[in-house]
Amino acid sequence: MRVAIPLLLSFAAFAQTRDISGTWIGKRTTPMGEMELVYRLQVRDGKITGSQSMMMGDQPITDGKVVGDEIELIVQMEFFGDIQKVVSKGKIVGEEIHLTPGMPPRPPGMGGPPGGGMRAMMSQPLILRRGTPTPSNRPAPVDYSKLPKVELPAIETLKPNGLAKTPPMGWNSYNKFRLQIDDKTVREIADAMVKSGMRDAGYIYVNIDDGWQGKRDDKGVLQPNPGFPDMKALADYVHGKGLKLGIYSSPGPRTCGGFEGSYGHEDIDAKTWAAWGVDYLKYDWCSASRVWKDGDMQAVYQRMGKALEKAGRPMVYSLCQYGRAGVGDWGSKVAGNLWRTTFDIRDTWQSMSQIGFSQHDWAKHSKPGNWNDPDMLEVGNGGMTDTEYRTHFALWAMVASPLIAGHDVRSMSPETAAILLNREVIAVNQDKLGAGGARIAQTGETEVWKKALDKNAIAVALFNKGEAEAEVSVDWSLLGISGKRKLRDLWAKKDLTPAESKFSAKVPPHGVVMLRLQ
Ligand code: GLA
Repeated sequence: MRVAIPLLLSFAAFAQTRDISGTWIGKRTTPMGEMELVYRLQVRDGKITGSQSMMMGDQPITDGKVVGDEIELIVQMEFFGDIQKVVSKGKIVGEEIHLTPGMPPRPPGMGGPPGGGMRAMMSQPLILRRGTPTPSNRPAPVDYSKLPKVELPAIETLKPNGLAKTPPMGWNSYNKFRLQIDDKTVREIADAMVKSGMRDAGYIYVNIDDGWQGKRDDKGVLQPNPGFPDMKALADYVHGKGLKLGIYSSPGPRTCGGFEGSYGHEDIDAKTWAAWGVDYLKYDWCSASRVWKDGDMQAVYQRMGKALEKAGRPMVYSLCQYGRAGVGDWGSKVAGNLWRTTFDIRDTWQSMSQIGFSQHDWAKHSKPGNWNDPDMLEVGNGGMTDTEYRTHFALWAMVASPLIAGHDVRSMSPETAAILLNREVIAVNQDKLGAGGARIAQTGETEVWKKALDKNAIAVALFNKGEAEAEVSVDWSLLGISGKRKLRDLWAKKDLTPAESKFSAKVPPHGVVMLRLQ
């Protein structure tokens, strides 16, 4: 009898368990538009498996359960190279599932609003109903347990591709257009880059980020989606404007946006891009973290580095793996020209300043052909003041970051143009020594950064991160120089009175004074 009661109870709970196998759809309104969340569930003996699909790709559900009306889903979420198990809990209510999705905690070092804007939004309760997902260019979710194995090469040092002797300059679709990019927009941006003077200032690459992919054909050749009717024609158009074309993929089976990745198709994809006339590849780790460990990363990136070499068309090789696995030490060995050093930037002072001012330790890895990439520019996207955008651009120039704009060039304001087209600041970034700038002094909320330039010149930036105007000084001894120096204010574009031993300036809150010392 003592045994029979619990048995009876659990039988009662089991008997009530509903079969919720099938496809469930939830809708969420986000600042980026309406988002569809798709839950594909299989229930067996009360255990749930399946996948959760949303804007940023598919996540396997590994260990869910349904007991009576209560459900629990254990979702393996991927976040900038980390896989975390998060628990979502819900209840079956009539024909609906009322779900409270779990979200991983914000990683330490990643700025963002208290409470975590996107995280807070994504963990709001969601109503799921049975339905059919809106057709999309995303392939079906991957069953990672059945993925064919890709052999990794033995580590070697690949021949440098000889490109990007100065930090690449250009434009990329992601910061403004996210995953909604098409041929028409890319052509219009290319036109605008010529008309606005961006091309002539050095912004040459027009880079399509995630969201261009369609499906593979029966020979395994990756096709663009219908928004890109003819990639070769697009490349010809861009080349005809004196610009170059960039593309995006992932070493994993899926990109960060859930589109087809290059896993096991490295050679064929590199050949396809070469045939289209692509000049630049951003290769984003994303779903690769579901397949490999960080320790495999060098070999994984080498695999594509080799494929690009074999494809025979020079392409700038941009490693996007959020600064993991000591990439500064091996990025150049896989023929990489740039490597990300951080999480994704957002168009806020908090995100930009947290990323920018943390670049100090990367400086030693910067040299012609190999650049640290603290992510693309947000200048002109509207989330910061012009003063903050000048600080953003100055920092990226000082650390010899690639200058990849991310705004809508077609409607660039004169204020944005004045920042992005400041040739004297660009010249600091493009200096042929390729030295990465670094912090040389810090007092409270002010920082002084120095970048060595060709012909014994020095760029100095006086930053004020605080909320009130501050006087910032730099002593020549700190710069390792002595005697009278010519000074040029690069934002005011004027020569200052030469100084003997130090320079001081009043710097506005969140602002910068940037100098060239000759
Ligand atoms: C990652 C990258 C971004 C962008 C998106 C596209 O988040 O870090 O720069 O490429 O993927 O999905």
